[in-house]
Amino acid sequence: MDDYLDSNRSMWDEYAEHHVESSFYDVAGFKSGRNILYKTELEEIGSEVPGKSLLHLQCHFGLDTLSWAQMGASPVIGVDFSPQAVAAARRLSQETGIPATFVQSDIAGLTEHLTGEFDVVYTSYGVLCWLPDLAPWGKTIGHFLKPGGFFYIVEFHPFSYVFNNDEGISSLEIKYPYFHNPEPLRFDTGGSYAAPDATIQTKNSYEWVHSLGDIVNTLISAGLRIEWLHEFPFSVCSLLPCMEEFEPRYYRLTEHGQSIPLMFSIKASKP
Ligand SMILES: C[S@@+](CC[C@H](N)C(=O)[O-])C[C@H]1O[C@@H](n2cnc3c(N)ncnc32)[C@H](O)[C@@H]1O
Repeated sequence: MDDYLDSNRSMWDEYAEHHVESSFYDVAGFKSGRNILYKTELEEIGSEVPGKSLLHLQCHFGLDTLSWAQMGASPVIGVDFSPQAVAAARRLSQETGIPATFVQSDIAGLTEHLTGEFDVVYTSYGVLCWLPDLAPWGKTIGHFLKPGGFFYIVEFHPFSYVFNNDEGISSLEIKYPYFHNPEPLRFDTGGSYAAPDATIQTKNSYEWVHSLGDIVNTLISAGLRIEWLHEFPFSVCSLLPCMEEFEPRYYRLTEHGQSIPLMFSIKASKP
């Protein structure tokens, strides 16, 4: 298991360096005032975050974390297991003067590196497939959430991961399982969603599938109450064959109408 996570960490270290320079993340735009958060999370929880303490899990190099701080969350802490991502996040906080603390830790071991309780625990887009087991993730959320606080996730829908997205594929065909297997799926690495032309040294990455039922039941087992679960027929990434950008930064299928879920969000509170 450690080998799988080490390989993923080394890939994310390399990606972090490319992503800081990428037009996808547009750090220059962020520095000149562009809000990087998507309208989905802004509409769903944007008005509830100002004035609250916020813990951001798998924060990458901290752009979303700093955006929530800029919107008035305080204090704000971002966590990621990639040392390069955390170093870049700390640099960005210093350069912009936006206060935030960044902690380098695996999500499963966070209680060894951080103390305290938060009003909001937040995580988004492309996070769960890197976790071998959701139970420690749920325990981490339950541990760091204040009674009365809420957890929010907006994430790619696990059903959207069943389809073949190899280069050259032009229609939807099932390739991957929907249900969890403790053995990860192994992928050859290459360019990323934000740096498609990047070449990196890490050879493989490892991903795990977590069904929507597993995600919901993990949060319930962690003592949280599900407030709502939303499913969306569009995505913030062009993850599949035949997708088109239908409004800035949002993609939908060009075929099959709006017939399958591509993202979901959950708000869950700690009683
Ligand atoms: C796709 S990125 C998240 C992107 C984020 N929504 C953004 O756009 O900035 C996934 C992040 O998860 C982190 N990560 C992966 N596995 C992790 C783990 N087990 N513990 C902590 N962080 C992890 C990676 O280092 C990476 O920064």
